[in-house]
Formats: sequence, structure tokens, C-alpha cells
Amino acid sequence: MCGIVGYIGEKKAYPILIKGLQCLEYRGYDSAGIALISESGSLNVYKAKGKVADLKVFCEDKDVTGTAGIAHTRWATHGEPNSTNAHPHYSASGRLALIHNGIIENYLTLKEKLIARGISFKSVTDTEVLVQLIEHIMISNDITLLEAVQVALHQVIGAYAIAILDRRHPDTIVCARQSSPLVVGLGAEGDYYLASDASPIAEYTDRVVYLNDGDIAVLQLGKALKVVNIDNETQHPNVKQIDVTLGQLEKGGYPFFMLKEIFEQPACLRDCMRGRINVDADRITLSAVIDYCEKLVSARRIVIVACGTSWHAGLIGKQLIESLCRIPVEVEYASEFRYRDPVIYPDDVVIAISQSGETADTLAAIELARQAGAFVFGVCNAIGASIPRQTQTGVYIHVGPEIGVASTKAFTGQVTVLSMLALCMANERHTIPVELYKEMVRELTLIPAKMEKALKTNEQIERLAPIFTYARNCLYLGRGYNYPVALEGALKLKEISYIHAEGYPAAEMKHGPIALIDSEMPVFVIATRDRLYEKVISNIQEVRARGGRVTAIVTEGDTQIQKFADHIITLPDTLECFQPLIASIPLQLLAYHIAVCKGKDVDRPRNLAKSVTVE
Ligand code: F6R
Repeated sequence: MCGIVGYIGEKKAYPILIKGLQCLEYRGYDSAGIALISESGSLNVYKAKGKVADLKVFCEDKDVTGTAGIAHTRWATHGEPNSTNAHPHYSASGRLALIHNGIIENYLTLKEKLIARGISFKSVTDTEVLVQLIEHIMISNDITLLEAVQVALHQVIGAYAIAILDRRHPDTIVCARQSSPLVVGLGAEGDYYLASDASPIAEYTDRVVYLNDGDIAVLQLGKALKVVNIDNETQHPNVKQIDVTLGQLEKGGYPFFMLKEIFEQPACLRDCMRGRINVDADRITLSAVIDYCEKLVSARRIVIVACGTSWHAGLIGKQLIESLCRIPVEVEYASEFRYRDPVIYPDDVVIAISQSGETADTLAAIELARQAGAFVFGVCNAIGASIPRQTQTGVYIHVGPEIGVASTKAFTGQVTVLSMLALCMANERHTIPVELYKEMVRELTLIPAKMEKALKTNEQIERLAPIFTYARNCLYLGRGYNYPVALEGALKLKEISYIHAEGYPAAEMKHGPIALIDSEMPVFVIATRDRLYEKVISNIQEVRARGGRVTAIVTEGDTQIQKFADHIITLPDTLECFQPLIASIPLQLLAYHIAVCKGKDVDRPRNLAKSVTVE
């Protein structure tokens, strides 16, 4: 969704804020804006439609002096993306400027009341309603900004992370959070940084406070951080050390973060397994499983809730857990689950999967599960995010910050964690023979090296990509463990190249989609050697018989499929259940190279945001 940055201190705020916005652009980027209290004491707001680069150009001839400021990159929810609706928004008198991430659900009611009191609005946003409300309360009751924020937030229904500058108090930022992340960085000189996540802060300080829901923080230069709630009760901030390095956030010589992140996967999976699989590679230890063993192994049922790519990882998790642990698993779109009045038992285990840990629908699904008394387990990447804090326990995937909007390394990290979880639980439940367990653990440790081999297909895929740029539709087919890989391959292509693509279980094709097949329709088939191999060959022949152009992802040494396929991409062999970890690599690369050939901005696909913190 949107991104928030703030700074108050002795340094020039403008460069810090612009750099911070660039770091957060992955969250949303249809417009951006900045508010600075200048050296002369004026509160200047500059906004531009488009990317942060457009804002920089707009600011070139403006007064960007000052050591206090807030800035925002927007992904529109209320009102079209233009410079009027962009944040920050001024209050009626121009004394306050406010930025906001989230949605104020009752903004229309509040707006009508304010209009009735003679206040007029420039934008159509819910955010402007908030700043007008706060100023109206502050002036009419002659109270401080903090007090006015507390009164205003009592009236607000919705999700928000907000930051406010007051021209009369140039040494202070007031900020608040409810269901939308906000991190305060504690500078060495009594200065403060503020952001939606730690990435823009990491360059300046490693001491941060993740605000909790209901927290209102006052960042005053040279004074200790003050955190209260809307009832003015003091909260005790928990200072954490972060270890996000700058190198992790830069492109490291790759043209796009997505390509860097695709190539990082072997190293990421090693990090994900480090300390969890012992040196002899015959045992997995997950502290969450040790601590909550009884709960997990005696689960009557497991319900996985997630969205998008994380949901695809969940489909693989279902097959792993059902076949290894013999526990029934349901996989639900969090957005559907939360509104479906689902049956949840107190002895259910609900696994919430999320890269960002901030997806609003997944958070709501967790809340529902908790209310029903289920045990909730998180599989997340972003350390300290809301989901890990709202689940009883869980496992981090530890793949480092994912900046490319299209998820790649988080997907394979999630599948790796789910594989380790399924193996651990199966071992505890004695549902697989010990020898098989050990063989599978050993094979899992070989996956990073096999991924490195799979990445060697990059050049071949780069050469193939131009052939597919003409396509208007593509079909991805797979069976068993490779069916979610087909879904994920199709999602990647849609997201970054804007070519329509569908993932399908290969055998289902003849129940409908086969009607679409002609020589214009590229069909990507994941046909690695497994139990369903022969059946997938038949499916390929069905496509060929209708003139379809087949690109097959096969296991090295395969000599059969090349007779039927137009193109073959060869991958190292592994156990069937780990095949998604290898087979997703060529599909990520394919989507990437097709999008690059089409001249698309791979890291910033249109209409998409990295973290969907509104429903
Ligand atoms: C696809 C993608 C999205 C996310 C989805 C869930 O490439 O990135 O589909 O997977 O928005 O996000 P998280 O995992 O952060 O909950």
C-alpha cells in the first residue's frame, strides 16, 4: 500500500525523505509528496503525480530547506491518483500537514459534520478529512496536537498509520498506528526517523521501535520517545535492534530487484535452513514445533490462510502436510475466509502465510481464527511485522527484504518452511518412516545447489522470451505438486508482462480450456519426472494435436518429451514434493524476460503494491 517516511533532527530532512520514499516505492507509487518546515518557519507541501523521481523534479526549484519533514508515496484508494489527492494534506489553516496509510471507513460521516461546520475540502480523500478533523478539534477546544489526535482517533473507524507536522512546533512529529505498520528509528543525536517499515531507516540507525496498534508516539528532538494510547495511558516502547544491511536493499548489479531476488534464492534457502537442519542433515529442529508440539501434532485439521503467491505456497503446503502428516488441510483465500462465516474448531491449527506480514485480509483471517479459539501459526518474512506479532507462534522464512513487487524468493522460502514444518510434524506424529524422513531432510539440503543449476537456464530462457512477447494469452499446466507451480508461473507473467495467463491442473484442460488452444497460444507444461509423468505426456499430446505450441519443463535426462514439445527446459531431479522449489525458477525467469522484452518496469508493475494493507 502507501509508504510513510519522516525525519526530525539536525540534518537536512529533504534528502533523507526522498531516499526513504525511493526505498518504499515498492509499496505503492501512483503519486508522492513531502511536507517540510523550512528554515524560515513555513510549512511547505509539494506533491506530484507519478513516481518519486517526478516529485524530485517538481521540487527542483522549491524551498526544500528544513530539518523536519514527513513524506508519502501513495497507491490510490479514495480518489484518483493526482497531485490534489496525493499526501501530505494541509489542514484548513495550513498549520498542520498529515500523511496517512490505510482507510478511514467512516470518513463520509465525519466529512459531512465538518462541512456543516463550514470546513471545505480540496481533495476527495479520507486523509484530508482526518487532518481537518484534528485541526478543528485542536482549535475549537484550544488543546495540544497530541490531545486533538487522541480525541479525533476516538471518532475514527478504520485502519491508519499517520504522521503529522505542526508549523508551530517544528521540533515534533506526532504519529499513530492502528492496523497499519509504523516503525520509529532512534537516531544517535536525539533525532528520529519514521517509516512504514525499517528499510528506509536502516542506513541511519539500527535501534527501532515497532509501534503497536493503538499507539500514538510523539517524536520530539532531543527528548525521549513518548508513546501513549488514545486514552493518554503511557505505553512502554520496546527498542529492537534491526539487522537489515544496505547491501540487502540495493540491486547488487542486477538491472531489477526481481532478477536479483530470483538469483538470490539458493543463498536465501540456505539462510532459511541454517540452524534448523543440523550438520549431519538428518534432523530438522523448529523451535515453534518444540514449544507447541502438542498443539500442532494433535491438530484435528489445519487451515491455511493466505493471499496471492503466499496462497500458492499454501497449496503446496497442503500436499506436503496431508501426505507426510496425514492431517487434513484446507487452503483458503484469506479475503474469502474472513467473510464466509467459516467453521473453525478450537483444536484447529490455522497457518497464516504472508511475505510482508501486513496483508489486511490475512490479518483479519487471523483475528477470526483467534476469536474461534484456534491456534494460529505464522509463516512470515518481514521481522516484527503485524502477523508475527498477532500469531501465537510461527517460523520466519529469513529470505531478507523482498523489494520486487512480484514475489519470488519469498515463495520458495515459504515452500521451504512448509516442507520443514511438515517433516518435523510427521516425525513427531510418526507418520513417516525414520529412514524416509532422513532421506527427505538430506534432499532438502541439496535444493539450493540444484537451484543454482536451474538458474543456469537463464540464458536459454532469455533467448526464448522474445518468441512469447506477441502472445495475448498463455496457459500453464501442471499436476500434483506442480499444479500450484503452474498457478504461480501464470501469476508472475500476468503481474509483470500484462499478458493474460491461466494456470490449470493439466488433466482439467480437457474439461474446458482445451477449446482455447490454437497455434497462437503458448502452453507451458511442467512435466518433471514423477508419479504423474506419463499422464502429463498424454496432456501434452492433447495440446499438440490442437496445434498448441508447447514449452516443457522437464527433468534432466528426459528423452521422451522432446519428441512432442517445441521447446524443452531441463532441470535437475529431486523428490516430487520438492520439485516446486526447482520448477518455479524457470517460470520466474520466463515471466521476467518476457516483461523485459516488452519494455515493462519489472519491479514496479502497474496497479500493484507490494504490501496490500487495505482490504
Ligand atoms: C505476487 C504477490 C502477491 C502477494 C500477496 C500476498 O507476486 O506478491 O500476490 O503474494 O499480495 O502478500 P503477502 O505474502 O505479503 O501477504
